Amino acid sequence: MPDLAAPRSRILGTGHYLPEVVRTNFDLEKMVETSDAWITERTGIRERRIAPEGMTTSDMACFAAQRALENAGILAEDLDMIIVGTVTGDMPMPATAVYVQQKIGAPHCPAFDISAACAGFIFGLSIADQFIRGMAHRNILVVGVELLSRVLNWKDRTTCVLFGDGAGAAVVGAANGLLADDGKPRGILSTRLHTDGSLARSLMIPGGGSESPMTHELLEQKKNTVAMRGQDIFKVAVKNLYSASKNAVDVAGMVPEEIDWICPHQANIRIIDLAVQRLHVSREKVLVNIDRVGNTSSASIPILLDENVRSGRIKPGHTVLMCALGAGISWGSALVRM
Ligand code: ACO
Repeated sequence: MPDLAAPRSRILGTGHYLPEVVRTNFDLEKMVETSDAWITERTGIRERRIAPEGMTTSDMACFAAQRALENAGILAEDLDMIIVGTVTGDMPMPATAVYVQQKIGAPHCPAFDISAACAGFIFGLSIADQFIRGMAHRNILVVGVELLSRVLNWKDRTTCVLFGDGAGAAVVGAANGLLADDGKPRGILSTRLHTDGSLARSLMIPGGGSESPMTHELLEQKKNTVAMRGQDIFKVAVKNLYSASKNAVDVAGMVPEEIDWICPHQANIRIIDLAVQRLHVSREKVLVNIDRVGNTSSASIPILLDENVRSGRIKPGHTVLMCALGAGISWGSALVRM
């Protein structure tokens, strides 16, 4: 029996933002040597959103955050902490979370970024869960946001077709012994986080940091853009997403068949299908929007979550298994009863 008295955190509200401009595979056919057929078959992506000139990462984060606050019925002034998962922040310093705090009018609470690429939202959710369960904080805003279109080489067909811009957010607070209709506790049931630095160079933006400060030569070589060894990531993604998901379910004392929804990071439909097959979960339980938004890295899971909460597909009491893997490589999972 789960300990009903144990302090637990839960997702109080969610929100997301996608820029209006749509870039289709057919648009990309005019920019690089690619085809709609190749992109759709190999990745499942048909189109992605692109942020307009002048819009910043923190702008998108704020739009998502405001919707999550409204959905949670929480005011910005009631936030105790802001965590932003991003690898495409407004600038290297200070953190994008700082601008989010300022723009949404939150008080002087701690606000910081997490650099865990596609796993950024899961890392943020897990940190928020620890603070709430430790009863140090009441309401924590967790955002996953990426403006990847600004760090892509639009002449490199191996990367530019994969990514899109967007933001998703969740407000995390205390569950206060809240139970679902079947008497089971609602809230974050388990989270798992992992990193394997031996694969660090499989996916990176190589220039602009202390290892290779930006020079004209490096700029000409596009070292300020995403470089990826896709196949290296593909293999470990299937294996690690499966093991982290299974582990999160095991720790919560459940079996995969009991899960209502799987909300996986949207990097490649083939990765999702292979990982889910291993879990032996019905394909109807797998939430997907990669066809419409592409890979939005840390924003991927909170966008997908919010879309399905708002559409009424995910209902209070449903269990949702989230899992993500990205640059680092870092990966993780979270099991939540909504
Ligand atoms: N259009 C047409 N042809 C292409 C394209 C394209 N856009 N891109 C590559 N090709 C070509 C290649 O040049 C290659 O040609 P060749 O056989 O003549 O050499 C051929 O297609 C096959 O290329 P592969 O790289 O083997 O294709 P693959 O099936 O592995 O798909 C992909 C590539 C989609 C990148 C896949 O490997 C993948 O999804 N990897 C994982 C990505 C991921 O999960 N990243 C982590 C998250 S992102 C983050 O953390 C920010």
